[in-house]
Amino acid sequence: MKNYILTVKGLTKNFGRFQALSNVTFSIKYGDFFGLIGPNGAGKSTLLKILYGIVIPDFGSTFISGLDLKYDYKKIKYNLGIVPQDDNLDEDLSVYENLLIYSMYFGIPRKESIKKSTELLKFFNLADKKYSKVAALSGGLRRRLMIARALINNPSLIILDEPTSGLDPEYRQNIWGRLKALNENGVTILMSTHYMEEAEKLFKNMIILNHGNIVMNGAIKDITSNKKSLEEIFLDIAKN
Ligand SMILES: Nc1ncnc2c1ncn2[C@@H]1O[C@H](COP(=O)(O)OP(=O)(O)O)[C@@H](O)[C@H]1O
Ligand SMILES: [Mg+2]
Repeated sequence: MKNYILTVKGLTKNFGRFQALSNVTFSIKYGDFFGLIGPNGAGKSTLLKILYGIVIPDFGSTFISGLDLKYDYKKIKYNLGIVPQDDNLDEDLSVYENLLIYSMYFGIPRKESIKKSTELLKFFNLADKKYSKVAALSGGLRRRLMIARALINNPSLIILDEPTSGLDPEYRQNIWGRLKALNENGVTILMSTHYMEEAEKLFKNMIILNHGNIVMNGAIKDITSNKKSLEEIFLDIAKN
C-alpha cells in the first residue's frame, strides 16, 4: 500500500434494491493523473462521494495516504481537495470571500489564507474578478473558482467530478492546462469525465465503470492498444 495514495477495496453501495456500486477495488499511485470514466448513471459520483465522505458505503474500505477513511476522515480531509459535480459556491459572496471562508474550515491562519487566495486567483486567471460576486460569474469562471477553492489547503490529492462538463472548449482547455500544471508539481489527481478527448489528453491510468462495476482498469495506452479508440471502447460499453 506504500506506493498508493488511495486504495479502495470492495466498495459496494445500494440505494434500496438498486446497486449503484458493486465490489469496486482499485488503487492510485502517488503522482498519478487518474481517470474515472463511464456513461451517465454508471456510479461515478457515488464512488467519488464515498471518497469525500458524504456517502457511506454498505461494504468495503477506503485508505487515503495510508489512513482508513472510516476512522481518520478528519485527518484525511486536511490533505484532500474536493470539486463536487454540483456547484456549491456561496452566491452572495465575492470570489475572494469564497476562498477566505473556505480556508476557515481548515483552520488556516488569516495571513496564510490571504497569501494563498491571492496566489490561487492569479493561477486561475481570476485576479480581476476578486471582488465580483459569484452570482455574476459565467459557468467557466465558477468552475475555475471551485478548483481554486479545493486547493486552499495545499492538498496532495484532489478529486474532481466532471469539472469541465458543459463548458466551452476554451474554458475546458484552460482547466486542462491548470490541472496538468498541478499534476506536474506533484499533486495527485483523480477526476471523472464522460469526454473521451479529455480522458486521452489527461489521464495516465484510469478505470471504466458501467452499472457500478469496473469493466476496465489500467494505463490508457494499454486500454487503447487493441486498435480501438477510447471513444469506440466507451460506446461499446455504454451499449451494455
Ligand atoms: N441518493 C440516491 N438515491 C437513489 N439513487 C441514487 C442516489 N444517488 C445516485 N443514485 C442512482 O445511482 C446511479 C448512479 O448515479 P451516479 O453515481 O450519480 O452516476 P454517474 O455520476 O456515473 O452519472 C444512478 O442510477 C442514480 O440514479
Ligand atoms: Mg455524476
